[in-house]
Amino acid sequence: MPKTGSTARPAAPKKNTPKTPDAAPARSSANSLPVRSESALEIKDNRTGKNYSVPIAECAIRAVELKKVKTNNPDDSGLLSYDPAFLNTASCRSAITYIDGDKGILRYRGYPIEQLAENATFLEVAWLLRHGELPSLKEYDQFVHDITFHTYVHENMRKFLEGFRYDAHPMAMLNSSIAGLSAFYPSARNILDPTERNISIVRLLAKTPTIAAFSYRHVKGLPFVYPDNRLPYVENFLSMVARMSESKYEANPVFARALEILFILHADHEQNCSTNAVRAVGSSHVDPFSAISAGVAALFGPLHGGANEQVLRMINEIGSVKNVPKFIESVKSGEGGRLMGFGHRVYKSYDPRAKIVKNLADEVFKVVGVDKDLEIALELERIALSDDYFVSRKLYPNVDFYTGLIYRSMAFPTDFFTVLFAIGRMPGWLAQWEEMLLDKEQKIARPRQIYIGPAERPYRSKLKAKQTL
Ligand code: CMC
Repeated sequence: MPKTGSTARPAAPKKNTPKTPDAAPARSSANSLPVRSESALEIKDNRTGKNYSVPIAECAIRAVELKKVKTNNPDDSGLLSYDPAFLNTASCRSAITYIDGDKGILRYRGYPIEQLAENATFLEVAWLLRHGELPSLKEYDQFVHDITFHTYVHENMRKFLEGFRYDAHPMAMLNSSIAGLSAFYPSARNILDPTERNISIVRLLAKTPTIAAFSYRHVKGLPFVYPDNRLPYVENFLSMVARMSESKYEANPVFARALEILFILHADHEQNCSTNAVRAVGSSHVDPFSAISAGVAALFGPLHGGANEQVLRMINEIGSVKNVPKFIESVKSGEGGRLMGFGHRVYKSYDPRAKIVKNLADEVFKVVGVDKDLEIALELERIALSDDYFVSRKLYPNVDFYTGLIYRSMAFPTDFFTVLFAIGRMPGWLAQWEEMLLDKEQKIARPRQIYIGPAERPYRSKLKAKQTL
């Protein structure tokens, strides 16, 4: 029987302290020295006249310090900070990904995204995100071997996927299948064991493309293609998606490299909605398959990963370049919904990933010809970047704006786009999940609330029939 359900904290190899000077001074420039400030925020509570000194470290104050700010009422449990949607609250200290939203900077473990996208492989980035350093050749070869060895899924998982309707959304299939893996690997619940954590991480990285490809084939009504473990990670995925009667599938090298770059660009993005979901669910010490399925569920939403699908649907609805100005006006008036693929909670200048994606689109279009809707996308971008509504709100194209056009050029169906995002994001979710588990400061995620409902009142049934019984 696996050891399960322990609530003890996993033995951390060492305290989860950011290794690079970049990560320490949160929100200050990543090139500046860490701000080991002795400074404090002085607060005066004008309800009581009392003064409080709240220490500032790493450009933050600890919200629990506010609990000390109390009135003389003995029932007062202290001041809360109120921050719906975490607009200005750090939920963790993390050494994985650095973003400077004003300058359009994104780095994984200190490495600029542009350099990784240009030179690295996806599995190298996956290793980097988890371990904090680039793998040596020996480590990399072993990692690739381990991942390749685990690409097959249990035959019952295949039957499980076959049970979905022909028109099931592939994200719904992916989400429930990843949750279902929890039932296949009960020992994964022993999250305190580093060996169990490692094999679960390997399994999730290895099997997600297989499940994704099976869901694609199911919707298309095509026979499932098993992994061909002679192939590298991305090519193997493309083989499971597209292979027909050939004995060995050979992916178009431009498509394979483009997809690898897109996976790298999506690999992590610090505390986004789905990563926050993985951390929050994982903080209950549930197994990683269950925690990661929460991330896939969050990614499905149109404001998050589902935006890539919505961009294409929006472009289809616009239909022609001449309709773009009217559509932009409808967005501005609020009648046309949002301009999908625009805006970001953190980036207030160009999303650096969007720049790379736009160049990548040109490479792919050289192979398949220019996408028929590129003109509409370019016109949307041109108008939005010069219109005061978007400029004043700092709304720029995000990573999802052009990815859909690339995916469509590679013949992926629109509702499969977010699945591709999920394959890419898997290493980030896993690295963040493990970082959370090893962080001695983390506990079960349990936000507070400000109660705004009725005060106590006596029960008086409104069910007359019940009263007369
Ligand atoms: N189109 C039109 N107006 C927008 C948009 C947009 N795409 N995004 C934000 N706004 C407006 C919004 O109406 C608000 O205006 P006002 O101040 O007049 O009320 C202002 O800009 C601020 O918006 P917000 O909703 O407070 O911003 P947020 O940080 O909560 O939302 C966002 C970020 C990404 C959810 C939002 O920009 C959005 O809905 N974008 C479209 C969906 C999208 O492309 N999502 C993908 C994000 S990047 C990849 C990923 O994370 O998965």
